[in-house]
Amino acid sequence: MAILISPSVLNSDLSNLTGEVARISAADYVHLDVMDNHFVPNLTFGLPVIERLLAATDMPADVHLMIEDPDTWAPAFAEAGAKLVTFHAEASTSPVRLARELRKLGARAAIALKPATAVEPFLDLLSEFDMVLVMTVEPGFGGQSFIDGTLPKIRRTRDAITALGADIWVQVDGGVSRATIERAAGAGANMFVAGSAVYIAEDPNAEISALRELARAAYKD
Ligand code: DX5
Ligand code: ZN
Repeated sequence: MAILISPSVLNSDLSNLTGEVARISAADYVHLDVMDNHFVPNLTFGLPVIERLLAATDMPADVHLMIEDPDTWAPAFAEAGAKLVTFHAEASTSPVRLARELRKLGARAAIALKPATAVEPFLDLLSEFDMVLVMTVEPGFGGQSFIDGTLPKIRRTRDAITALGADIWVQVDGGVSRATIERAAGAGANMFVAGSAVYIAEDPNAEISALRELARAAYKD
């Protein structure tokens, strides 16, 4: 299973997004947190900013939509060229229809689960998705601490994917750092969002490599 690091720019210098993405050239993706102040109590950036960023960088975009009504708004991010588009299970009315639409537009389609949202209703539908994002904090802000209580859900998700024999990624997002990444990888996560851990580091690319090595050694499918 590919081990992928996707730094979140949420706590970077948002007035210089292109420059901040250039600082993480060792990453596999850049994680872009879109917040609408309704689904979560915070507001970031939307489609026009992402379109301009994608025109200015070759780094593949991993767009995490923390917005209401993704059924209406998510396809435009795939049309804009995001390689991976993640929407929340709690916000989508027809997740399978939306995932199929995103795939048709050429993006990987992913469903995100808040810490208190169960994966079980989605287990029979896993093949409709390219990735499951198991949130390891309550979405809305960077710099929160990793919730260990999400580890059993990561494991159940990975086990169901293995039983299916499918190549579906499990992403974790929130509080991921050198101190927590091995626990997440050991539970079966293979894609890691790290915001503050990467951008606080003096050398973001060295931090990305260190995180990738720790995850590679700890990953268990
Ligand atoms: C939180 C966002 C995360 C956030 C992670 O709601 O979805 O992507 O930027 O930041 P850290 O790594 O600082 O927890
Ligand atoms: Zn995120």
